[in-house]
Amino acid sequence: MKEVVAVIKPFKVDEVKDALSKISINGMTISEVKGFGRQKGHKEVYRGAEYQTDFVPKVELKICVADDQAQAVVDTIVKTAKTGKIGDGKIFVLPVENVVRIRTGETGTEAL
Ligand SMILES: Nc1ncnc2c1ncn2[C@@H]1O[C@H](COP(=O)(O)OP(=O)(O)OP(=O)(O)O)[C@@H](O)[C@H]1O
Ligand SMILES: [Mg+2]
Repeated sequence: MKEVVAVIKPFKVDEVKDALSKISINGMTISEVKGFGRQKGHKEVYRGAEYQTDFVPKVELKICVADDQAQAVVDTIVKTAKTGKIGDGKIFVLPVENVVRIRTGETGTEAL
């Protein structure tokens, strides 16, 4: 299994969520986060305002899927979150050792 962690522009969340629903993922966790990338110290525009600080608001998505679904998740996020401007975000793909579905005790891909 893989965990796909994507840090994206907040206004893209609904579009990305809808696109991911269409490729039938089973779950997702999102958090409001702040971060910076390569342009740290430079300005980035968020909701029409230029951010002076190093930290710009972003949304982090976490999605655990079977190995053979990970590439489709990544491709879908890239396609829908991209504006072509700086700060579009980044995607990290991590190995997942195990998953437990608390209600049933199922583990592994059955628990996803
Ligand atoms: N190396 C990293 N490690 C952890 N988080 C990162 C890293 N790079 C970027 N991020 C997170 O992703 C967000 C968006 O990064 P961003 O898209 O600005 O990356 P970038 O490499 O500067 O690309 P771009 O040149 O397109 O802006 C950051 O605000 C931060 O939260
Ligand atoms: Mg950047």
